[in-house]
Amino acid sequence: MQIFKITLVGLMVVLGTNLVFADTCHECHQSKDLKVTDKKLYDYNLDFEISVHGIAELACTDCHGGDDSTTNLKKAHKGVMDPVRYDKIPGTCGECHDEQHEAFVASNHYKLLEKDGSAPNCVTCHGSMDMDFIFASRVKNTCQFCHNLESDTLPEVPDQADYILSKINIIKGYRGFVQTHASDRDQVQALDARFDQLTARWHSFDLDGVEADTRALLGDYRKAKAQAMKDRKKN
Ligand code: HEC
Ligand code: HEC
Ligand code: HEC
Ligand code: HEC
Ligand code: HEC
Repeated sequence: MQIFKITLVGLMVVLGTNLVFADTCHECHQSKDLKVTDKKLYDYNLDFEISVHGIAELACTDCHGGDDSTTNLKKAHKGVMDPVRYDKIPGTCGECHDEQHEAFVASNHYKLLEKDGSAPNCVTCHGSMDMDFIFASRVKNTCQFCHNLESDTLPEVPDQADYILSKINIIKGYRGFVQTHASDRDQVQALDARFDQLTARWHSFDLDGVEADTRALLGDYRKAKAQAMKDRKKN
């Protein structure tokens, strides 16, 4: 994955022994005043700090734009909701996550999103400020909103998505074991590459193709784990 625009690290200044964020978005959004006037927004910021993006030290401006050098609320906030409007979100995320973005914009969902917003976007599944991997049950509910018997729009989709995501979670378990214990490092690399391709392909919503890839990869991870167990006994 290519990462651009990580600016926050460069902006950190050392004050005594504490590291302090020298951008005004952070300063204001983590202030005790905000905790009193708008607890929800204050908590939002706490969620961000423990998210994958907070830990990777992204700046608020990486996704929101705005001006993080001023304490003037109006100036700071100029245009901050524009890049995170539902139809702009894929492009904003795509600046750093190009593989997922590329697969996603080729899907019918993307066309619907552009037309009238009637399709999931990146944050529907990943969350926004509390960005993380998705949960199978949450995704299933999301899909069901549009894909159900009443609407008759591909009603089989929620169960299929649930099945695939559950299997991907099982793969993740095997993957951790294989990465740590397998002695054939070329094989580990080849499996890792297939896992990355699989999760990128998920974003194209070619569910039948993804389902077949998922099943094949799970089988191969199980074999690799069995082999790694044998190797461990021998040594
Ligand atoms: C002076 C304090 C202050 C600064 C500086 C500040 N914010 Fe805010 N922000 C707030 C407050 C207070 C709110 C609550 C809504 C309001 O009063 O506009 C808010 C709301 C927001 C919202 C929600 C807006 C909406 O329309 O729902 C976003 C997004 C946001 N801030 C992002 C940022 C970003 C990005 C920066 C830096 C470029 C930033 N803020 C700088 C205090 C600040
Ligand atoms: C990885 C991208 C990303 C980063 C970095 C990011 N945000 Fe956001 N933020 C979003 C998205 C996307 C939304 C819109 C969520 C939606 O539509 O459900 C959002 C929404 C918000 C809102 C509006 C909440 C509401 O519902 O009114 C606030 C406030 C906010 N962000 C503040 C911040 C602040 C402060 C920072 C830095 C500490 C920050 N964001 C960093 C992606 C980001
Ligand atoms: C400025 C670059 C940047 C932007 C914009 C950005 N991300 Fe990220 N994202 C990162 C970095 C850095 C990580 C940490 C993991 C890593 O290094 O691979 C990450 C991690 C993730 C992860 C966890 C996957 C992993 O490999 O750990 C997800 C999911 C994710 N981002 C989704 C999004 C979504 C959705 C948006 C848009 C709302 C977005 N990102 C916007 C840089 C970015
Ligand atoms: C329908 C739900 C859904 C939508 C919409 C979605 N994703 Fe994902 N995303 C997933 C799933 C499922 C995975 C893989 C499962 C996992 O790794 O936990 C994933 C994985 C990722 C990862 C980590 C990939 C890795 O190799 O580990 C990133 C980064 C990401 N998505 C970014 C995005 C971006 C950017 C968008 C919007 C363009 C987006 N996602 C839209 C469900 C979704
Ligand atoms: C807001 C409504 C909406 C949501 C939510 C939604 N979809 Fe869709 N989806 C559609 C529509 C509309 C179509 C086009 C149906 C058609 O062509 O008959 C579609 C088509 C599809 C297709 C067919 C392939 C394609 O590209 O046309 C798949 C697969 C699919 N959706 C999967 C999902 C999954 C998985 C989820 C949950 C993460 C989901 N959808 C959530 C509205 C939605």
